[in-house]
Amino acid sequence: MSFTNNIFLLMEKSLKKYGNNVHYSVLKEEVLNWINLKDGGIYIDCTCGPGGHSKYLLSSGKEIFIIGLDKDEKMLEIAKENLKGLKNFKLIKGGFENIKEILEKEKIDKVDGFLFDLGFSTPQIKDGQRGFSFREDGPLDMRYDITSNLTAYHILNKWSRRDLVFIFKNYGEIKNCERIVDKIIERRKKKKFETTEELANFICENFKERKKIHPATRFFLALRIATNDELNCLKKGLENSIPFLKKGGRILVISFNSLEDRIVKNFFRKTECIRILTKKPILPTKEEIEVNPLSRSAKLRVGEKNGK
Ligand SMILES: C[S@@+](CC[C@H](N)C(=O)[O-])C[C@H]1O[C@@H](n2cnc3c(N)ncnc32)[C@H](O)[C@@H]1O
Repeated sequence: MSFTNNIFLLMEKSLKKYGNNVHYSVLKEEVLNWINLKDGGIYIDCTCGPGGHSKYLLSSGKEIFIIGLDKDEKMLEIAKENLKGLKNFKLIKGGFENIKEILEKEKIDKVDGFLFDLGFSTPQIKDGQRGFSFREDGPLDMRYDITSNLTAYHILNKWSRRDLVFIFKNYGEIKNCERIVDKIIERRKKKKFETTEELANFICENFKERKKIHPATRFFLALRIATNDELNCLKKGLENSIPFLKKGGRILVISFNSLEDRIVKNFFRKTECIRILTKKPILPTKEEIEVNPLSRSAKLRVGEKNGK
């Protein structure tokens, strides 16, 4: 059995035990230690999801206020439930790439910290109707924000050969993808791809994966990144956060793939007012990976603002 299949079996086991709405917040302890909470401080959880990190920070005993953002209204509903009984938080539907407009609307000009925990959450993966996972059958959707126009269905069935090659090469890091893109184009002329299962089966039949992962993994990642324009949102979110950060305030980013991590690392390096506090990224402990195998690819980087 491959490593990845093993991981999914472990995940299935824990989901059976705790339910589909449970999301294990990655590097929770490390986030609490590095964010350096201050009484009276305002913190922005840019990717609130089901609210796990927010809950942990709000329960830490410090008098803080958290704004939790998410593009996915459903996640905010789960977060609301999860944060019941706690005070000092506000949940807002919105993308972190629009942080400037969101904070201006809230009349907040400076905050003490930002947390980004990128990607998707367990309730999103487990809900087949969202189309994020090749292990759950459903429509090829993959939108975090279900009101946005672009779906994975549209990309896969309508985008040009050149654009498909671009996303699979650059977002999925699949070097030899031209042949399968040609096959995708052949097949969609006869019949459009409708579901995650159809796509996963098609990839399994037509593509040999050299890494020890399910052949569909990197195709699904590329489609998800393209559907949500994730890399541009990340760049914009980081850039637009810095002017709102107080001197001494920290920005924490947990990434789950090398593309995201590279953006974060380069952004911290080139931003003069940021002092890098983590020369090497912080990784989950062996114990954390055992409890939550999906945390194995997480990397936390932390920067602190100098100057004004
Ligand atoms: C890994 S989950 C966060 C889990 C959360 N930290 C917790 O501990 O429960 C990432 C969340 O970010 C949201 N998301 C992705 N891109 C976003 C964006 N550009 N703006 C706001 N939220 C986004 C997703 O909808 C998802 O709910």
